Formats: sequence, C-alpha cells, structure tokens
Amino acid sequence: FQPKLLAGEHVLVTAGPTFEALDPIRGITNHSSGKMGFSIARAARDAGAEVTLVAGPVHLPTPRGVRRIDVLSANDMLAATVHEAERATVFVATAAVADWRPASHSDQKIKKDGSGQPPVLHFVENPDVLHTVAQSARAQSGRLFCVGFAAESENLLAHAKAKRERKGIPLLVGNIGPLTFGQDHNSLLLVDADGVRELPHAPKLVLARELVAEIAARLPGRNH
Ligand code: C5P
Repeated sequence: FQPKLLAGEHVLVTAGPTFEALDPIRGITNHSSGKMGFSIARAARDAGAEVTLVAGPVHLPTPRGVRRIDVLSANDMLAATVHEAERATVFVATAAVADWRPASHSDQKIKKDGSGQPPVLHFVENPDVLHTVAQSARAQSGRLFCVGFAAESENLLAHAKAKRERKGIPLLVGNIGPLTFGQDHNSLLLVDADGVRELPHAPKLVLARELVAEIAARLPGRNH
C-alpha cells in the first residue's frame, strides 16, 4: 500500500533538454535524457497527484495517466509552463533549458558560401522558466510550491545554496556526481531553508519517490 501523499495536488514538471533552432535542419541542444523528470512525474502520479509534464525532445514513453505537452525551444517551454502553472500547486523544474539560443533563425538551410570562412553564430539569453514561475503571484503567495534542480561540475553545495536564493524557491535539488545525464541512477542533495539532506545513490524512480515524499512534507497547510 502506498500512501497518497499528493492527493488533491496538481504537479507540473518540466523535463528534458530544449532545442534551439538555427535553421530548418540544425540547432543547439544538450544531453539531458529527461529520465529524472519523467520519474518524478510517475512518482507524483502514483502519489495521487494530477500531473502535467512539459517535455523537451526526449525518447521516453509518457507515464500512464500523465498529461504530456511536447515543446522544443525554451520560449515554447516558458509559454506552456507559465500557462499550466496557473492551475498547479507544485512545480518541479528538472528541464535542462538551453541558456542561450541563436540570435537569428534562418528559414533556409545555412549553406557553405565557398569562401572557406565558417559562419559566426550570435546568441541571446533564454528566459529562465523556473525563475519566472517562482516570481509569479501564485508562487509568492505559497499556493504553488516550486522545486529547482542544479547540475554542477564543481562546488555543488555552494552553488546549490546560492541557486536556491537566486531563484527564490523553497527547495533546490542538486545532482551529485559529475555526469548523470542518461544514467538510470543518481544521488541527490536537497537544500532548503533548514539545511541539507542527501538522498544516496539509487535508481531515479526510487529517488523520485523519496523526493515526492520530501515535497509532500513541505507543502504548507497539509498534514502529511
Ligand atoms: O540556472 P540554472 O540553469 O543552473 O538552474 C537550473 C534550474 O533552473 C533547473 O531547475 C532548471 O530546470 C531551471 N531553469 C529553467 N529555465 C532556464 C534555466 C534553468 O527553468 N532558462
């Protein structure tokens, strides 16, 4: 028997990478597999929540009973997420959103011009989906509990603490270990206002269930 820790909640999850198009054929993306986010969506559903998953381009089946919205770019992810966040009570941002996108998009394939000179690419910064949602009136009033993730290559604890403050969120989850992209296992570092807690190395679905319980315990006004 699994206690329905998130009964009555609407959990919104972003997952996977974004794809920032350069022309109709090429673009900028990253190695995020989406596995952590999809595991969280599944664990939240199992915990009795209504779940909406905003997914970048990933090769994963949709967990049963989860509503999935596919997006490509960071701007698409922002629009879908902001819209869905109006109804959500928990937001978990696991997506590896591209920090930058090409400043311009060519409608036609960019061709070699014969000069031997490669093209110069210019970038502009993408919107921060998590920060935008965390600043919304719904989140600021405590009706939407926001959780962020951090993948760092060094100084995870210091970066995680700083990121929690900067994003203005109650809970920040750090990926321990340099490269968890695509792996089925992970270990997590939970950072909140009270301190730090480690969820040791385990399959992502096990970690997702533990994280769901940690989130449920932090929801204001609910006695779990
Ligand atoms: O700032 P940084 O990218 O390291 O923060 C990571 C956290 O912020 C993750 O939860 C990620 O999903 C979220 N994020 C976002 N939009 C961005 C960048 C990061 O939602 N443009």
